[in-house]
Amino acid sequence: MEPFIGGGAVFFAINRKYAFETAHISDSNEELALAYRVVKGNVEALIDRLGVIQTAFHETPREARSDYYYTVRGEFNANREKTDFETFHSSWIHRTAQLIFLNRTCFNGLFRVNLQGGFNVPFGSYKNPRILDEFTLKEASASLQNTEISMGDFTTCEKFVDSTTFVYLDPPYRPLNRTSKFTGYSKGGFSDSDQVRLAEFFRTIDQRGAKVMLSNSDPKNEDPDDLFFDTIYADYLVDRVPAKRAINSNGKLRGEISELIITNYQTNCQTQAQQPLMDTTLRGDMV
Ligand SMILES: C[S@@+](CC[C@H](N)C(=O)[O-])C[C@H]1O[C@@H](n2cnc3c(N)ncnc32)[C@H](O)[C@@H]1O
Repeated sequence: MEPFIGGGAVFFAINRKYAFETAHISDSNEELALAYRVVKGNVEALIDRLGVIQTAFHETPREARSDYYYTVRGEFNANREKTDFETFHSSWIHRTAQLIFLNRTCFNGLFRVNLQGGFNVPFGSYKNPRILDEFTLKEASASLQNTEISMGDFTTCEKFVDSTTFVYLDPPYRPLNRTSKFTGYSKGGFSDSDQVRLAEFFRTIDQRGAKVMLSNSDPKNEDPDDLFFDTIYADYLVDRVPAKRAINSNGKLRGEISELIITNYQTNCQTQAQQPLMDTTLRGDMV
């Protein structure tokens, strides 16, 4: 189960390798949940629709492409009010095609909305963006066939968790410094009190016997005395791992920094780290 599915990097990677019998993904972003449902159930129609948009965009002279982008963005936002995000409607296919188009052509592939829920990312400057990736869409669709898709706050997933569930939690990261305040993939953002609420959810599903893994930023990158996560996850295993940051407004933090992996069980990496040091040649043989 993944209650903060976002782009689903972990879900798709693990599913590709181990082919889940069943899975459950969820997100509070209703546009994203709608798109996953379309990719799951209507991938051929989506590919056709996206092909039409891609052709139209590529046939538009370069100097007029930003106008094309803003027209699609305007239509996408104008249709939001009349979209029923709960019950399937054929208009979902066009909406998903527009969402993918916007994602492939907007600035940095960001998803950001204003307080009214309107998508407000400006046009990006790509030479020849790939808008339709038929292979990936079909592969994603195949991956989603045994997958339940829901929409809402992470707490709504509680009822689907039991002692056989593995839950991966990848919430919006806690900002590392006062200028990196980007936690708002959707309206409302994700505050420290949401992080505390999530720690309570972690405990609830831990008590149900689920195996739980959570990732987050490590406040100690900026302030060695910041024990926010060490405190709220004091009863669990808090591991610090090196990670590369691709999206960060602060150039200094784009390199390798430490991130947190918090689990309620011991991972293989932790087990290996705790083994006594071995002879280096022997280690070499094992690699
Ligand atoms: C860090 S991203 C997840 C990234 C994802 N692992 C990936 O591979 O792209 C966090 C996600 O949490 C979602 N989100 C934010 N607040 C939420 C909430 N209260 N409940 C559920 N999902 C939420 C956002 O819409 C976003 O998709």
